Amino acid sequence: MSDYNQSLLTSDVLKAFDKAPTPRLRELMTTLVKHVHAFAREVDLTPEEWMQGLNFLCRTGQISTERRPEFILLSDTLGLSMMVVSLAQARASKNTEGATEATVEGPFYWPGAPDVELGADIAQGVAGEPALYSGTVTDVAGKPLAGALLDIWSGDGEGFYDVQLSATPSMQARGKVRTDEQGRYRFWSIRPAYYPVPDDGPVGEMLRATNRSIYRPGHIHMMVSAPGHVPVTTHLFVKDSPYLEEDAVFGKRDSLVVAYQAHPPGIAADGREMKTPYHSAEYDFRLAPTPK
Ligand SMILES: [Fe+2]
Repeated sequence: MSDYNQSLLTSDVLKAFDKAPTPRLRELMTTLVKHVHAFAREVDLTPEEWMQGLNFLCRTGQISTERRPEFILLSDTLGLSMMVVSLAQARASKNTEGATEATVEGPFYWPGAPDVELGADIAQGVAGEPALYSGTVTDVAGKPLAGALLDIWSGDGEGFYDVQLSATPSMQARGKVRTDEQGRYRFWSIRPAYYPVPDDGPVGEMLRATNRSIYRPGHIHMMVSAPGHVPVTTHLFVKDSPYLEEDAVFGKRDSLVVAYQAHPPGIAADGREMKTPYHSAEYDFRLAPTPK
C-alpha cells in the first residue's frame, strides 16, 4: 500500500466514527486510531510484531482477576496511570493548589477495610517493624478537618500485600481512621518495604525483556477525604528506601517522601509501650475545597 493509500485508510477509519453518539466518544476513538496508525507506520510494524502485541494484550486479559488486575499494572508500568493522575490534578489545579499531591492507586486497593479507633494497630500481625503514623488533615489554608477519613493500605515489611500471601486472604495492614476534633490522626502499622510489582505475568515479561526495574520503593497508600473537600489518593514514600529513584510505576513525588525516625524500645509518643525497636512517621495532609 502506497503512502497515499495508507493515509486514505486512516481517514476512512476516522470517518467510520462520524456517527458516534457523543462528540467525546468520537474524539477518543478517532484520536486513538490516529495514534495507533501513526505508531504502526513509524515503526514499520511487521505482521509478526503485530500478532505478538495482540497476543500480549490477550494474555494480559486472561491472567486478570479482581485481585490481579494486570491491565492496571500495564497502565502503571507504561506511566499512563500517572499521566491520568497528573492530568486530573492539572485540570483541577485552580482548586487543588496547596493540596497534598496525588499518585497512583495501584492494583492492591481492597474496598471495605475495617474502621478502627485512633491509635489502633492496623498491621494485624503482618511481618515488619512497627511504625507509628501521625499528623493532621487540614484544608489548604491549614484549618483542621475533624472527621476526615484516611483509608489506608500497604504491603508488609517484606514487600508483600495480604492478597499476595494467600489464595483466601484476610485483610492485613488495611484500615480506616478518622481525625479527631483537631484534625489529628494516628495509627500503628509497619514500615513498608520496597517490593517487586507482580512479575509472573505478561507485564513482568515486558519489564524483563526491556531490562527495566520491577521494583517500587517502600510506601504506604491512603485515600484521604472529608465532606466538602476534594479527596486525594496518594502514598507516603519511605525516604531511605531502595528504588526511590526508579519506581517501576513512576509514582514517586518529592512532596510525598517522609523520613521515618527509628526509635529504640520504650514509650512511644502516643504512650504505647514498645518492647521492640520501632519507627515513627509524621505527615500533614491538605485537602482542597470541592469546586462550587
Ligand atoms: Fe503499593
